[in-house]
Amino acid sequence: MEYSRRNFIKAAGVSAVAVTTTVSAVVSGTEVAAAAPKPSPLAIPDAITRETSTFNINGKNYQAEYEVRTTLWEVIAVKLGLTGTNRSCNRASCGACSVLIDGTPFYSCHTLAMEAVGKKIFTVEGLGDEKNLHPLQRVAHLYSAAECGFCTPGWEVTAKGLLDKNTNPTVDQVKAALSGHICRCAAYAAIVRTVIDTGKVLRGEAEIA
Ligand code: FES
Ligand code: FES
Repeated sequence: MEYSRRNFIKAAGVSAVAVTTTVSAVVSGTEVAAAAPKPSPLAIPDAITRETSTFNINGKNYQAEYEVRTTLWEVIAVKLGLTGTNRSCNRASCGACSVLIDGTPFYSCHTLAMEAVGKKIFTVEGLGDEKNLHPLQRVAHLYSAAECGFCTPGWEVTAKGLLDKNTNPTVDQVKAALSGHICRCAAYAAIVRTVIDTGKVLRGEAEIA
């Protein structure tokens, strides 16, 4: 299956069509139309199906039950408790929720969980922890590439995906790779510098002070 926002919207549209059809039928019946309660805008339709699958995250296998409408972020953060991946806009716009799937960055808020089954998922927890930070995290700390830090797990994961493929990216390549990330604190200059200089560390051309 191809990962895209279009596929997500298509999948979500199947349930939306079903709901719309039901509402029209109700409205066209005179005796029901007057009494039909207004649906809450927050009402979530009943689950269509449930599945239990194994998700490979940062090299470990986790089992989770999910519904066909469940997003990958919901599985990672809510069901499995890997809360490092932030969800901010929930609209496929900001990049805070990014994870790698087979090495490619995806917005986990707009990737269905079922699309990631059988793939290798990488989240910020796979980068490092406070006792053993990844060079990207150490350089980011040195350059203060985070202010509120909300965008940080997302762009760090995307940058890791870039550096895994190319440890010597140009500034333009870094900007292009991170173009799907919004930093509301506008730490962009420090973020780009972090990725460039982490490449130097990974290539053995620089050390972190
Ligand atoms: S929370 Fe997913 S792109 Fe903003
Ligand atoms: S550091 Fe605050 S959003 Fe990026």
